[in-house]
Amino acid sequence: MLNPEAIHRLRLEGAYIHASEHFFSFAPYMPTPTLSLDIVQDLAKELHGKSAAQVLSLLASRFADAIAFSTSFGWEDQALTHLIFSQDLPIRVFTLDTGRMFSETYSTWQQTLDKYKKPIESFFPNTHRVENLTTTKGIFSFYESVENRQECCAVRKIEPLDRALERMQCWVTGIRGDQSDNRAAMRSVEWDAARNLVKVHPLFDWTLSDVKDFIKNNNIPYNPLHDRGFVSIGCAPCTRAVREGESFRAGRWWWEDASKKECGLHGTNTAHAEHIQTELAEA
Ligand code: ADX
Ligand code: SF4
Repeated sequence: MLNPEAIHRLRLEGAYIHASEHFFSFAPYMPTPTLSLDIVQDLAKELHGKSAAQVLSLLASRFADAIAFSTSFGWEDQALTHLIFSQDLPIRVFTLDTGRMFSETYSTWQQTLDKYKKPIESFFPNTHRVENLTTTKGIFSFYESVENRQECCAVRKIEPLDRALERMQCWVTGIRGDQSDNRAAMRSVEWDAARNLVKVHPLFDWTLSDVKDFIKNNNIPYNPLHDRGFVSIGCAPCTRAVREGESFRAGRWWWEDASKKECGLHGTNTAHAEHIQTELAEA
């Protein structure tokens, strides 16, 4: 629950609060940084110390009809999909089918449908934008420059993502802190200022071994590429297997500078409420 003080502040800002035991909603408003941090603060405190299953369950009741989980069918996402589907939680599950995914990823998608018999929504890029991109720049423009690569990601991932998240107040992802230095600087609960929603990473503190054990112990289908040296898996032309000793994201956009290895799905336009995290760490 939002605390009374935060609700009062939201009301003062003109937000419409519908508060009941397990639910709040707010009508569209322009959030100020303070409001965003309040929401993140309350949620971060409430979720602190809870298991991933408990986090998902709490979020599902809190953000009824306005919560979605994005899956790319990698290890982490399969673990979360299992927790959502096996607990029958009312959380939308969607994927961004960029049109350039590995056939193994499509097989994993189908196996997941077969196992859980629950819907996975598919978001495909805008046809005209893809046609325009490949007509004007060819089919491998992303290898030519960072700008071209970001353009392709914008067309094939970001535009569909924005559609998938329309009207959502909470976005759940499979990000873990130890996936990269960039990600280590993120927090398990964030405010996505660009999309106006709370972003939660329930596996943020899990190690890769935790994820693999969970997949094995629960007999969860996973992408067979993981057994061939692929750890972080995205689009086929932009992902390679990693070698012994390479970092988790070394196989993504491997021809680029490591500091640029984000595609815009998980940008830096977030508020972390640093003071809260410090407070929690000290608790
Ligand atoms: S990416 O930004 O580099 O592509 P990454 O592959 O590490 O992201 O995945 C991190 C999280 O982003 C996943 O756990 C998932 O929630 C989301 N994600 C990434 N790619 C997709 C996709 N194609 N469809 C849906 N969600 C995705
Ligand atoms: Fe395009 Fe590669 Fe980005 Fe996929 S990962 S959207 S193919 S640039």
